[in-house]
Amino acid sequence: MDVKRIREDFPVLENSKGIVYFDNACMSLKPRQVIQAMLEYYERYTACVGRSNHRLGKIATEKYNEARKAIAKFVGAKKPEEIVFTRNTTEGINLVANSLDLKKGDIVLASDREHNSNLIPWQLLKERKGIEHRIVRSREDCTFDMEEFKKSMSRQVKLVTMVWTSNIDGYKLPVWEIIKTAHDFGALVLLDGAQAVPHSKTDVRRMDADFLAFSGHKMLGPTGTGILYGKYELLERLEPFMVGGDTVERTTYETHKFLNPPEKFEAGLQDYAGMIGLGEAARYLERIGMENIEKHEVMLNKLISERISQIPNLQMVGIQNPELRGGIISFNIRGMKYHDISLMLDHNHGILIRSGQHCCHSWFNARGIEGSARASLYLYNTQEEAELFAEAVQKIAKLGK
Ligand code: ALA
Repeated sequence: MDVKRIREDFPVLENSKGIVYFDNACMSLKPRQVIQAMLEYYERYTACVGRSNHRLGKIATEKYNEARKAIAKFVGAKKPEEIVFTRNTTEGINLVANSLDLKKGDIVLASDREHNSNLIPWQLLKERKGIEHRIVRSREDCTFDMEEFKKSMSRQVKLVTMVWTSNIDGYKLPVWEIIKTAHDFGALVLLDGAQAVPHSKTDVRRMDADFLAFSGHKMLGPTGTGILYGKYELLERLEPFMVGGDTVERTTYETHKFLNPPEKFEAGLQDYAGMIGLGEAARYLERIGMENIEKHEVMLNKLISERISQIPNLQMVGIQNPELRGGIISFNIRGMKYHDISLMLDHNHGILIRSGQHCCHSWFNARGIEGSARASLYLYNTQEEAELFAEAVQKIAKLGK
C-alpha cells in the first residue's frame, strides 16, 4: 500500500499542512475522487432521480443506480436492492427498530459496549412496547463473553443487535459465531458496522448477516450518508419507517401501494450527490484493498502501543492487546483530564484526536471510567505520524502523576 501516494488524494492533508489526523473513528477525510463525483452532480447533471425523464434526470438516475451497485459489491450483497440509503448508521438502526414487528415480551439482545445509537432505540421500545432489552456483559478483560451470550439466547430472543467493531477500543466482536448462534435460535441479527465496514473486509452473504447499518462519513464518503443493508426477503417483510414521496407506486385519497425495497424505505428527495460520492468512496477503498487497510492500521497500532505502554502513568482503556484493537488507541494518563490530553496534542503537536465517552456513556459509566483520549487511524496515516504521536504522548505524560 503506497501511503505517500494515497495522501496526495486528500486535500485536507495539503490544506492543513503539519496536522496529524488521528480522529478517523469520528470522521474520515475525503479523497478528491469523492469530492469530484459530488461536484459533478452539482455542476453537470443536477436533477431529480427516478422522477424526471429529461436528459439530466437520466444521467442523475444512472449515476445514482451505479452508486448503489458499487456499495452492494463493496459489502458483498446479493443485489443492489438490498442497499437502503439512509443518513447514517443511527438512521439504519432506528429503521430496523421501528419497522420490525417487535411485541411485548420479545427479547432484544445487545452487547455492553453499544453506541448510544444502538442502545436508545431499544430502550424506547422497552418503554413504548414492553420489549425486553438484555445486555451481554463482557469478560473481565473486555473480550466478548461467548458463554454468557449462549446462555442468554432463547426462542424469545427475536433480535441480536451488536456492534461489530467497537469505537471505544477497536475490539472486533466474534460476529460470525454470534450470527450462527442467533440463527440457531431463530433470531435475526443486526450489526452496527459503523467502525467495521470502513476498516475491514465485509461480506454480508458469507457472514449471513440479516441487517448491517453503517455510515458514509467514516469510510471516505460525505457526511449525512449511510446504508442499511438487509436481506431482500427481510426488507420485503418490513414495514417502512418514514413514508411519503417516492415510497409508493400509487395512492388514492384512502389507500396507498408501496414500492418494493429499497425505494419503500427512501422517503422524500434523497441526497443524490452524497450517495454518488459514497459510491465513489466504496470504489476507492476497493481499489486499495480492505485487507491492506486493516493490516496497515494494526501495524501502526502495534508501533504506537509498544511505545506508549512503557509510560508508567498511562492506562489503556478497554482491550489491551494492540492486535485486537484494529486502528484504535484509547487511553488515560493518571493525573490528567482526557480533554486536556486532546487539547495539548492539538495545540502543542498538531495531532488531532477525540476525547470523552465517544457516545458510549453506558460502558464508561458501568466501569466508573470518566472517559478516554482516543486516537483512531486510517489508510493515510504514516509510521512517522505514529512515532510523532508516541513521542508527544510521552511528553504530555510527564505533566501527569
Ligand atoms: N461514534 C463516533 C465516534 O466514535 C462519533 O467518534
